[in-house]
Amino acid sequence: MDRNVTRRHALSAAALAGVGAAVTACSSGAETTTATATPAGGEAAGAGAGEANPAPAPAGALAKKSDIPVGGGVVLKAEKVVVVQPEAGTFKAYSTVCPHQGCPVQRVKGGLIVCPCHNSTFAIADGSPKSGPAKKGLAEVAISADGDTVTLA
Ligand code: FES
Repeated sequence: MDRNVTRRHALSAAALAGVGAAVTACSSGAETTTATATPAGGEAAGAGAGEANPAPAPAGALAKKSDIPVGGGVVLKAEKVVVVQPEAGTFKAYSTVCPHQGCPVQRVKGGLIVCPCHNSTFAIADGSPKSGPAKKGLAEVAISADGDTVTLA
């Protein structure tokens, strides 16, 4: 019995160490990938309405608020989060994992988050499905939008 408890604790500690490594990897990747996040769909140069080309966010932040266009958003591929601003001063974030078959959503255009695999679209206001085969909305991600940046809550 005690042996099992000890083994379980050892496994938990190992799992936590793995999580710590993953978190470290994610947070260190955020800075470098934020700058390259927008080429989603290769439309960075001629960014349409609602798309942005974000500059690197400060350490620990997902994005700078000033890089999230009103009525649009940015897809942060490494963080697997899409950050949007449906109305001026209102920020939301969703998982990039499409609820249809799990493809990552790739861009924000015309007030919609777009999954390219089967062309499902989701409203930036609440992540609800608007067209395509997805029947569920995108999972909302808790964020904090204090100060000049948006961070994971
Ligand atoms: S996986 Fe996104 S629409 Fe099918």
